Amino acid sequence: MESVNVGIIGCGQFSSYHIRELCKFPDVRLVAVCSRNKENALKSVELIHEHGKKQRPEKIAIYTDYHEMVRFPAIDAVTVCTPPPAHAQPMIAAAKAGKHVFCEGPMAVDLEQCDAMIATARSQRIRFTVQHTNRFNKNVYMAKKTLSDGLLGKVLMAKMDFIAPSGLRPEDHIAHVHWRLSKQGSGGGILFHAGRYAIDTFLWLMGDVHEVYGKMESFSHGSEVEDCASATLNFSNGAIGQMFLMGLAPPGVLRSPFYQIEILATKAVLTVIPEWSVKSDNEDFTYELNEKLSLESSGPCDGWASQLRDWIDAIKAGKEPLFPCESFRSQVELARALYKSVAINVPVQLPLQKDDSFYSF
Ligand SMILES: NC(=O)c1ccc[n+]([C@@H]2O[C@H](COP(=O)([O-])OP(=O)(O)OC[C@H]3O[C@@H](n4cnc5c(N)ncnc54)[C@H](OP(=O)(O)O)[C@@H]3O)[C@@H](O)[C@H]2O)c1
Repeated sequence: MESVNVGIIGCGQFSSYHIRELCKFPDVRLVAVCSRNKENALKSVELIHEHGKKQRPEKIAIYTDYHEMVRFPAIDAVTVCTPPPAHAQPMIAAAKAGKHVFCEGPMAVDLEQCDAMIATARSQRIRFTVQHTNRFNKNVYMAKKTLSDGLLGKVLMAKMDFIAPSGLRPEDHIAHVHWRLSKQGSGGGILFHAGRYAIDTFLWLMGDVHEVYGKMESFSHGSEVEDCASATLNFSNGAIGQMFLMGLAPPGVLRSPFYQIEILATKAVLTVIPEWSVKSDNEDFTYELNEKLSLESSGPCDGWASQLRDWIDAIKAGKEPLFPCESFRSQVELARALYKSVAINVPVQLPLQKDDSFYSF
């Protein structure tokens, strides 16, 4: 396959990032857009014409129904840019039609939907990935390798803090659409919006969780989703974890999220984000780990662009994307387990079983 023909489903705010980025790839053609409101679809067509000059899109098909769009034979793949509760249905329809799928995050709002999406992707043998671009970050990539190689010794504790400057107050610009502040519309608050990246990265580094106990609140007037959450985690590797997420930094205090991941192990303390730092009393060991980072940092480390590139390369080569689609389910499972823990005010064991009322939304 020389070039990949892509269609966009859901023409809102974030689809414009997909369009701008995909238009940079010489081996991608944006050939169709779909939004229930044709005006939104037409705006996306304009954007493709503006940014896709090199790709010379001859004609861009416009749909208002994704069922029709996925039957369009000229499309090889779609990106799904609808709100979280509307990810599963178009993804599954596209996969059943044999189209590869790049889905916006979170994967879905519950585990029933995630499992149906994964099962369809596997049975249809399509390339399916979910936008969690923090995994395509140099420090995260190296930390994962450092942990997998056992270089830190036994991991004892890990801590993640995430404070978003805005997003979950009715007056925030990103909350322009009411779905973000309603449970039905979004699936959840900070755990499903800005904080989902941080949770996904934390779990990707630390592995499976077997128990979680949490607290959360919705402090913002006019919002029914959580804007603050904290949790204590027990990881399957024996380590204890702590996460602290907030979507309500005082106005003007932060221009970008405050985000930190720290791992405390028997041989060293590793800060992964915001800056890579190794603290140990063994200078040779510290030097070796820092050297390793600079020497082996040739991985896919360009965030958003790297993940889209990885997906397109996987389609062209008929291979798996770098991260298996199953791995993106963990963030949704942890969020659902945390909601359960808050609802019943006790620690909750993972995995959540299919007959658990928190398995489905
Ligand atoms: N905005 C960001 O900064 C950001 C960042 C990272 C990830 N994301 C993710 O990207 C996805 C889209 O977010 P967005 O900010 O682009 O949202 P948005 O501006 O509301 O756009 C979503 C579009 O999807 C269409 N749509 C299709 N089915 C829908 C349904 N059942 N309910 C409502 N709209 C529906 C709507 O267009 P029609 O009405 O024309 O169908 C709408 O324009 C979400 O999953 C979000 O989590 C967004």
